[in-house]
Amino acid sequence: MKKTRVVVIGVGMVGSTTAYTLLLRERADELVLIDVDHNKAVGDALDMNHGMPFIGHTEVWAGTYEDCKGADIIIITAGSAQKPGETRTDLLKRNVSIYESIISEVLKYNDDGILLLATNPVDIMSYFSLKKSGWPINRVIGSGTLLDSARFRYLISEELTLDPRSVHAHIIGEHGDSELPVWSLANVAGAKVELDEATKDKVFVETRDAAYSIIEAKGATYYAIALALDRIVTAILRDEAAVLNVSTLLQDYYGISDVYLGVPCVVDRQGVRQVMDIELTEGEQQLLHKSANKLKDLIRSIES
Ligand SMILES: NC(=O)c1ccc[n+]([C@@H]2O[C@H](COP(=O)([O-])OP(=O)(O)OC[C@H]3O[C@@H](n4cnc5c(N)ncnc54)[C@H](O)[C@@H]3O)[C@@H](O)[C@H]2O)c1
Repeated sequence: MKKTRVVVIGVGMVGSTTAYTLLLRERADELVLIDVDHNKAVGDALDMNHGMPFIGHTEVWAGTYEDCKGADIIIITAGSAQKPGETRTDLLKRNVSIYESIISEVLKYNDDGILLLATNPVDIMSYFSLKKSGWPINRVIGSGTLLDSARFRYLISEELTLDPRSVHAHIIGEHGDSELPVWSLANVAGAKVELDEATKDKVFVETRDAAYSIIEAKGATYYAIALALDRIVTAILRDEAAVLNVSTLLQDYYGISDVYLGVPCVVDRQGVRQVMDIELTEGEQQLLHKSANKLKDLIRSIES
């Protein structure tokens, strides 16, 4: 049987934690770590291999782009931080050009894998990855609002003193400031989540601003995103058809097209098999349009 191979490109905080999570959960037969700082990847591979006597058997190594050959999933978490005096748009342009060079390397060795993207702003990075790769939409996936939805479900579960896995609730739109909570569909065993407006506002603001709080406290977020990426990888490799709020190119979704946004999608071995039709209220639709317009403006600013 063909070995399953997952490549992680950019083994900083998010990439290395993701690789470690995949390793602990034995998700793939082979894990390849690639970074522009090759020594970092070598160190991570050594460190993980030394843990092998305590877990099962996964082959982990610091690789090159040639190792993308035959990879089932290529996760990209490579990114660059803002330089002093640099505007957000300039940073964005720089990250897009980093992605363009990474993707052209990947394309030399792989034409049938799945690109799973996490670098921020993830919806924009996913959009440009689709354009650069020329791959079908289903095989270019952004981590979207899966992490945000997990934060949302956790915070609701704290209010209700319930297991977060029993809370079904979605954050959709941009993975960022313009995301929106779909309160109209939030439920526990089909029963509507009943919270007062002040609590709802508090829960959503804490969800939306979670990354700021964590970054202020410890410089970066990586544990929960690693679990979210692991969840997507598992849905793909096990052909689960799981419904996950990943980022995909919308095509006439509530009239929105040609932009990547986080929405509930069916994820299986093909990647994003289908976008779920969910019933949004008028207010939620307006917020989704606002989020889409913000991202479209950003795309235009990079293209100009
Ligand atoms: N999607 C989400 O929900 C989510 C959550 C958390 C973080 N993130 C994003 O993930 C990204 C990574 O965050 P981090 O904390 O790991 O940053 P980091 O600085 O720790 O890691 C980035 C890594 O990318 C590598 N890199 C840079 N250019 C490269 C290139 N051309 N080729 C290969 N590797 C390259 C760097 O050497 C570094 O190891 C950021 O954009 C961050 O905002 C996304």
